[in-house]
Amino acid sequence: MKIIREIEALQAAVRSYKKQQQTIGFVPTMGFLHEGHMALVKAAHMENDVVVMSIFVNPTQFGPNEDFESYPRDEARDTVRAEQNGVDILFMPSVETMYPESLTATIHAQKRVSVLDGATREGHFDGVLTVLGKLFHLVQPDNAYFGQKDAQQVAVVQGFVADYFFPLKICVVPTVREQDGLAKSSRNVYLTEQERKEAPVIHAALRKAREEVKGQDKASVLANIRAAIDQKNSYEKIVYLDMYQYPSFEPVEDWEKPIIIAICVQYSKARLIDNEIIGGA
Ligand code: PAJ
Repeated sequence: MKIIREIEALQAAVRSYKKQQQTIGFVPTMGFLHEGHMALVKAAHMENDVVVMSIFVNPTQFGPNEDFESYPRDEARDTVRAEQNGVDILFMPSVETMYPESLTATIHAQKRVSVLDGATREGHFDGVLTVLGKLFHLVQPDNAYFGQKDAQQVAVVQGFVADYFFPLKICVVPTVREQDGLAKSSRNVYLTEQERKEAPVIHAALRKAREEVKGQDKASVLANIRAAIDQKNSYEKIVYLDMYQYPSFEPVEDWEKPIIIAICVQYSKARLIDNEIIGGA
């Protein structure tokens, strides 16, 4: 595995792959790698000749009161994991490398972002698209891999790639979970012991809703989820819990078309998200 930190070196490696007509699978991450990230690498391996992973904690997608500084980082462990999982190039740029100057033109997400994380994390998706625009230009992947855990991110990135004709395919990988159902997340390390014990209720409640959703109205589906989660009380608040058509994030109108139930729960130090997509996905 090659570790690359500079733009020119990455571009040279990409040029050489392209010359040999090798297809590139790209897995963008913010590191602190877990099995969720590795599932993306595995999928990328199956469908491409080479796999490029980026690890970059992107400052522009964190709000002023968010956890950019304290976001978990472990470059040494990530390097071993990436290598063991067969990543060919690990791109780990500095903030100065990715953002050498203030931007002449900015990217602003305006569809699919008026709800959920888009509404509660101001500017978050602008930052995600900004860094992905840069990374897509650098890596020039044939396929880029994203987790369904961040379903709104998938929808926004798909829209962006379509709008600007990026010549790549967005591939979506199902959420990888702990044995008790908790979605794997770099932020799970922030949970206290008690919170960790209770957090699987999030997924359990969504699964139950998934089975019962047919024939119910939206309000009662959401009320049942909230009641199940309220039985465990270690969390601080439910930041959001809602249902939309997927991937448009428009209000639910057609129960035959895909619907997402999405939730965000704030614990003392960790903000956890999860979702279920019902029908069609
Ligand atoms: P990060 O949170 O590190 O996640 C990187 C990728 O791993 C995302 O596509 C995310 O959906 C996926 N992922 C995380 N947990 C997962 C799980 N339990 N199962 C399956 N996939 C999972 O998402 C980001 O970084 C950033 O916003 C990024 C896209 C890199 C832009 O900075």
